[in-house]
Amino acid sequence: MGIRAVYPGSFDPVTMGHIDLIRRSAALFDEVVVAILRNTGKTPLFTVEERMTMLVDAIKDIKNVSIVSFAGLLVDFAEQIGASIIVRGIRAISDYEYELQMALMNRRLSSKVETVFMLPAESYSFLSSRLVKEIAQHGGLISGLVPADVEKRLCSKFGTK
Ligand code: PNS
Repeated sequence: MGIRAVYPGSFDPVTMGHIDLIRRSAALFDEVVVAILRNTGKTPLFTVEERMTMLVDAIKDIKNVSIVSFAGLLVDFAEQIGASIIVRGIRAISDYEYELQMALMNRRLSSKVETVFMLPAESYSFLSSRLVKEIAQHGGLISGLVPADVEKRLCSKFGTK
């Protein structure tokens, strides 16, 4: 049996940084399950269904990746689907503190799941869904930061360009 990894997040919306990390994870693990959190405290811009559609489109050429949504505790979900690895991306040292806290808490909650931190390409180290939404909202240029379809959807959400 191969190693199944889960890559959880809000993906509101998916960026090139996420896609880069999915590709790197797919090369490393036998199977990668990208898991969109359903019950987030944040108010998302896109519905789970929209985020799923954008992700499915973005990774359609990668064979060993699937997209699902989940609610509740991540470690419970990981155990349910038989994933032994949680993949999280670290862009800069500022991400580390929050990620360390989550990883150690997840370790306390389950000894069956290990967190693996991965680095996206340095050209995406400044990229976040939050910044992309902010730029799109004010009509700034986001091409190259998100897939073309996501760019279109962002512009139509905000009524820009
Ligand atoms: O993309 P994000 O918003 O940084 O992803 C955060 C996510 C989804 C990984 C995190 O909020 C999460 O795992 N939520 C599920 C609930 C949970 O397990 N909470 C305890 C974490 S220690």
